[in-house]
Formats: sequence, C-alpha cells, structure tokens
Amino acid sequence: MEVIVAEHAGFCFGVTKAVETVYDQIEAGKTANIYTYGPIIHNETVVSDLEKKGVKVINGIEDLEAIVGKKSDDSDNCADNSESESKGTIVIRSHGVTRDVQAALEKTGLEIIDATCPFVKRIHKVVDTESSLGKRIIVVGSANHPEVEGIVSYANGPVYVIESPEEAAKFNENKDLEYTLVSQTTFNKKKFQETVEIFKNNGYNINVVNTICNATDERQTEAEEIARKADVMIVIGGASSSNSRKLYDICSKECDNTYFIQTLDDLHLDLHDDVKIVGITAGASTPKNIIEEVQNYVRTNF
Ligand code: F3S
Repeated sequence: MEVIVAEHAGFCFGVTKAVETVYDQIEAGKTANIYTYGPIIHNETVVSDLEKKGVKVINGIEDLEAIVGKKSDDSDNCADNSESESKGTIVIRSHGVTRDVQAALEKTGLEIIDATCPFVKRIHKVVDTESSLGKRIIVVGSANHPEVEGIVSYANGPVYVIESPEEAAKFNENKDLEYTLVSQTTFNKKKFQETVEIFKNNGYNINVVNTICNATDERQTEAEEIARKADVMIVIGGASSSNSRKLYDICSKECDNTYFIQTLDDLHLDLHDDVKIVGITAGASTPKNIIEEVQNYVRTNF
C-alpha cells in the first residue's frame, strides 16, 4: 500500500508567523500578560500548549473590557498590581480584526503585535481603496468568518458578502454601478470562479481581484489531485478550521472514503485489502507533528 502525504499540508506562512510570534513573546521572558485576540489558530493542541505557558485568549470586545476594567480596579486597590496588570501584549492572529476591534485594542494601552497575514492585509487595502473610489464591494466568503468580518469592516460604503454561487445567482442590485469583488483567502477556487462567472453573465460591471492566497490554491489543487487517485483520503484539521473543512469538501468529491480528523485519536481506519493508495493532507492550522503521527500510524499499521 502506498501512502501519499501532500507537500502543501499543514501550517501556511501566515499561520507559522502568527504562532511563532506568540512563542517568541513567551521566550522573550515577558512577565506581563500575553493575550491573543481569538485562538491564535484553529488547533486545540497548540492553543492548549500556549495556555499552559500562560497565554490567555481574548474572545471578544467583552473580554477586553474585563481586562481593562480589571486593570483599573487593581489600580484603585493596589499600586503595585496596577503596574503589572497595565503591562501586557495582545497578538492579533493571521485572520486580522475589524477596524472597530483594532481601535478598541489600541485603546487598552497594551502593546499590540499585529500578526495579520500580509495576504489578508492586502485585501483590507483593496477594499478600503476601491470603496473610497465609490465602488460597491462584494466579498466572496463565509459572512461569519472572522477574516471576512475584518475585510467587510474596511469598506467605506455598501458591501455584500456572497457565500456561494447559488447566492450570486440570486444577487439583485443596480447593474449600472461598479463593483469590486474580492475573496476570503481560503475560499474554494472552483466555486470562486463559478461565482465570478455568474456575476459577469448576469451583466454586473465587476472588477475582480482574486485574493485567494497562493498557499490555499496550492493546497487545494494538490489535495484534489491526491484524492482523485487515492482509495482512502485523510484530511487533518481543527473542527472549526474553515480551510480544513473546504479541503474535506474538495477531497470527498474525488474520493468517497474521505476522513476528517483533528488528531490521530479520531482515526478509526479499517482498510480492506483492495486499498492501494492512502492520501493525507492537512489544513493550514495543523502542526507538522500531528501529520507525522498520522502518516507513521498508517504506514506501520497497514
Ligand atoms: Fe495567510 Fe494564506 Fe495562510 S492568507 S494565513 S498564507 S492561508
């Protein structure tokens, strides 16, 4: 039996940078609090390792208020405590944040380290500039994904989120206006192309800026190729990792026996003798050691 592990599996450049940024803070021996705005990646193993090392996750503006409130309560009660509580670092993860959140973070007075992926930053810039020129913005992606929420916040005018080609087909707005269309970085590239075609065929004047990042493009293309020839396909990713779920969708279209797992513990394989090829890929938030564990298990047990 052959085991094929995708070359483009696991941490992408943006996630690597964000995770390293947090570990760098720990290693720098900072005594003050280290926070991440949201879990730094959609991977429970990494997030809990960081928690053990003292990193706290801020889950929203409400948490932020509690931190700032705590700071001022402490300063009322004890001058020394206020000194230590008032210091701290907040790391913004690779998805980025909305303009409002950015402003709220800055208001805390804590040090802000922005690990937003440069590919996401580029989209913020495109949306900001194009909407300032009077164009309406269309974002192709999942409306409630933090990356998309961030992108939407950079529009200085009307902005629409389109989640699927089906939604694009129902889009009914003024066709005399100009639109600029961008994508969530991890959107399924085939669905993106379909969506664009629908807008064009329906007579919309759209300027398309394909903002699906290279890492996603390569990962999806390779996963699809492997799944096409594999008898069994394993996709490793966090339960709430949107790019991993998309990989699963792509692979399961090509291979009926596609498994979605978070760690080796979730894998309950029962391989028949006629299985010749097992493919393995992983989302952008899957650490290398988990991929290795899975591939070693498959290689040694079957
Ligand atoms: Fe950045 Fe692409 Fe990763 S946008 S965070 S390199 S999936």
